[in-house]
Amino acid sequence: MIKIASSEITPEHIYLNRRKFMVGAGSIAGALALAACGKADAPAASAPAAASQSTLKTPLTAFPKATLDHAEPYASKAQDELGNKLNKYDEITNYNNYYEFTTDKEGVNPLSEGFTTTPWKVEVSGLVNNPKTYDVDDMLKKFTQEERIYRLRCVEAWSMVIPWVGFKIADLLKEVDPKSEAKFLKFTSVMRPEEMPGQQTGMLNWPYVEGLRIDEAMNPLAIFATGMYGKPLLAANGAPFRLITPWKYGFKGIKAIVKIELVDTQPVSAWMNAASNEYGFYANVNPEVDHPRWSQATERRVGALGHIPTLKFNGYEQEVASLYAGMDLKANY
Ligand code: MTE
Repeated sequence: MIKIASSEITPEHIYLNRRKFMVGAGSIAGALALAACGKADAPAASAPAAASQSTLKTPLTAFPKATLDHAEPYASKAQDELGNKLNKYDEITNYNNYYEFTTDKEGVNPLSEGFTTTPWKVEVSGLVNNPKTYDVDDMLKKFTQEERIYRLRCVEAWSMVIPWVGFKIADLLKEVDPKSEAKFLKFTSVMRPEEMPGQQTGMLNWPYVEGLRIDEAMNPLAIFATGMYGKPLLAANGAPFRLITPWKYGFKGIKAIVKIELVDTQPVSAWMNAASNEYGFYANVNPEVDHPRWSQATERRVGALGHIPTLKFNGYEQEVASLYAGMDLKANY
């Protein structure tokens, strides 16, 4: 098992704060200095090529919740549209970033097992003509759930290939009908320190917040995930409702969303708040723009040996590059 020092991958002040955090959080002991990596059990495959839109949208016909509750892990394909092998269910559910629980990637799943995810309401408000509060169970019935096999590239330079199940953000926006002044979506995660030990510390400014430009959210690749491998999401992966924007670094994929506000000014995300010189609003995957403390040119596929080249926009350039036409991608990191 390869080990990476947390000091390499974590904003400096959080790395330093972690020492204080660990002293006060006995149950999360062990996460202090090291972040463990996945098992090296499969070769990585990566052939830079245009992502094919059609293979990204495989409708999952038998997705009703009743089926899901009993389904075995299921994906319609064994690889993504570039030929990358899917990560195993166990890898995806046991190597997680979820700082509300712990900074130990392998500790998130055990610590979050009892987390209450039903009932779950999501408020959609702000600059919309039809503000609504949804029950997640109703969203599962109302919005067409599809399988989306996406690469997830973490800003820490590891990656996975994940068969999410979810629905298009555009479908939800159509229903709430944003006003013309609305320019951004602001997402807020649940605040429940009694169930989330990490929230009892000041390592991030809780609750976790993220944002998207409205045209980014309308892109057909942008989804809310409700399931993974044909099963309901586990708490560790952000159950019951999280964001997935596969062309952006994983930290944009906010978990356990309880509020979506349409706003006219660019939201300040939790990571911008923590270290704005290291984490920007856009967070588009870009091998040409290094993190101030490490290179973004390559990545380690969890479960595989060695490093593979990182693709611009994580391989989804054809689908999303036009959103950023004329923008300086170095300045707008
Ligand atoms: N959402 C919340 N609420 N809290 C978090 O700590 N971590 C982010 C993102 N969403 C995080 C979050 C990061 S850094 C990554 S890489 C992805 O979740 C990881 O998602 P996964 O654990 O499902 O692979």
